Amino acid sequence: MKPRPATLADREAIARIYNAGISERAYTFETRPRTVEEITSWLGGRFPVVVVEEAGRVVAFASTGAYSPRECYAGVADFSVYVAPEARGRGAGRTAVLALLDAAEAAGFHKLTSRVFATNANSREMLAKLGFREVGLHHQHARLDGVWHDIVVVERLLGVNP
Ligand SMILES: CC(C)(COP(=O)(O)OP(=O)(O)OC[C@H]1O[C@@H](n2cnc3c(N)ncnc32)[C@H](O)[C@@H]1OP(=O)(O)O)[C@@H](O)C(=O)NCCC(=O)NCCS
Repeated sequence: MKPRPATLADREAIARIYNAGISERAYTFETRPRTVEEITSWLGGRFPVVVVEEAGRVVAFASTGAYSPRECYAGVADFSVYVAPEARGRGAGRTAVLALLDAAEAAGFHKLTSRVFATNANSREMLAKLGFREVGLHHQHARLDGVWHDIVVVERLLGVNP
């Protein structure tokens, strides 16, 4: 599993992996598939995006985005991580998040945060092992396909050993 910064050439792979995760209806409230053009806007700005290659093929990505438009929170980045369904359980997720932690710290961020479905035990366990703290639980935070879901807020300070 080899991590590296994402480039424009990775847009198709990122869209494919994200859209597979969206279609599984278990990890995100997003339901609309993303186009390659939309992925373009993720790249080349202040928010790092990394991909992980297995045998030369991109099998995972981890991305950052804005946490809040308020200037006081400019050091906090929101993140996501997705592994292609056929490549899960082989270390790609861990590799992607570790690379994103380094990239976000190098880009000057102070903290990563995210929201995880309470039912997503695999992600919660992985993030706990990587030093993320579960801040708390939002009850019935939004609906997916008509069903309310509880959401766990996670955070990790950068530049510290948890
Ligand atoms: C959650 C996800 C990112 C984990 O990536 P992965 O490559 O499958 O996981 P890894 O092989 O790197 O495993 C890292 C840790 O995650 C946990 N984990 C991952 N898959 C697991 C499984 N099937 N069962 C139990 N624990 C699992 C384990 O704690 C594992 O540590 P270990 O190897 O010491 O047991 C990946 O499964 C995925 O993309 N899931 C769908 C999308 C998603 O949930 N994204 C996160 C949204 S917040």
